[in-house]
Amino acid sequence: MIKKAIIPVAGRGTRMLRVTNGKSKEMLPVGGRPALSWIVEEAVLAGIEEILLVTSRDKKEIPLYFSNVEDPKTYDRGYTYPYDCRGKRVQIGYLYQERALGSGNAVSCGEEFAAGEAVAVLFGDDVMVSDVPVTAQLNEVYLRNRVAVVGVQTMPEEVVRSCASVIPSDGEWVSAIVEKPTGELTSHLASLGRFVASPEVFVALREQETRNGEIWLTDALNILAKKGKVCYCNFEGIRYDVGSPDGYQRAISELNSHGYDS
Ligand code: UTP
Repeated sequence: MIKKAIIPVAGRGTRMLRVTNGKSKEMLPVGGRPALSWIVEEAVLAGIEEILLVTSRDKKEIPLYFSNVEDPKTYDRGYTYPYDCRGKRVQIGYLYQERALGSGNAVSCGEEFAAGEAVAVLFGDDVMVSDVPVTAQLNEVYLRNRVAVVGVQTMPEEVVRSCASVIPSDGEWVSAIVEKPTGELTSHLASLGRFVASPEVFVALREQETRNGEIWLTDALNILAKKGKVCYCNFEGIRYDVGSPDGYQRAISELNSHGYDS
């Protein structure tokens, strides 16, 4: 059972600037509370006991909301803060990604936190609404195969092209992952911001070169997929991409009126 989760929230959120006006997109209200609180709740309901928020120094509203401090003592100095959620207590640690060098770079900041074990990774701008927490669904696939897992759903072409296309091989195994595909689409399975990072993912991330000034998690996963070391989980649930204006609009209109507020 996976007990730790990394939630990267240090991105610049350029697509959302006209909505956030420079504030953290992860803290935009959805259903009466910050989007990120939905994601932390998903992790807690999936049995996660320790969360690492990889954040940036200017997003002070994040530690203020979860830990009542603007400048938290960081995980590398041995600090975590308790947070109570749905009757469970989780420890939250903070680390700063000094420059927004991509989601892969943010995840690799958590290598020490992972301490050689598999960890869940939840992107901080993808809110999931599901009967069984999406992270728990990925955990099941991990426990069957003990390799990295990528959460997917079948999506229309424009969505797949805006994230990553996951090309399946036999059963639940992945043969390749193509970030923001531009050529012919061979798979409509889109990677939607939920992963299990096996220890090998951190090794692959260390070996990654930057692309457009960033290191992408999917590039590291693609290297492992080619070696037959990645599975996918076609999860049940609805994903709201609050990192894009359209996705955020959909999240507030559907979640504000469907009584998911807790
Ligand atoms: P995105 O690629 O959706 O975020 O990353 P972004 O870079 O902020 O978005 P745009 O393209 O500029 O609009 C998914 C998650 O990874 C985090 C983001 O905060 C988001 O929660 N992230 C991204 C980091 O923590 N660090 C980064 O360098 C990039």
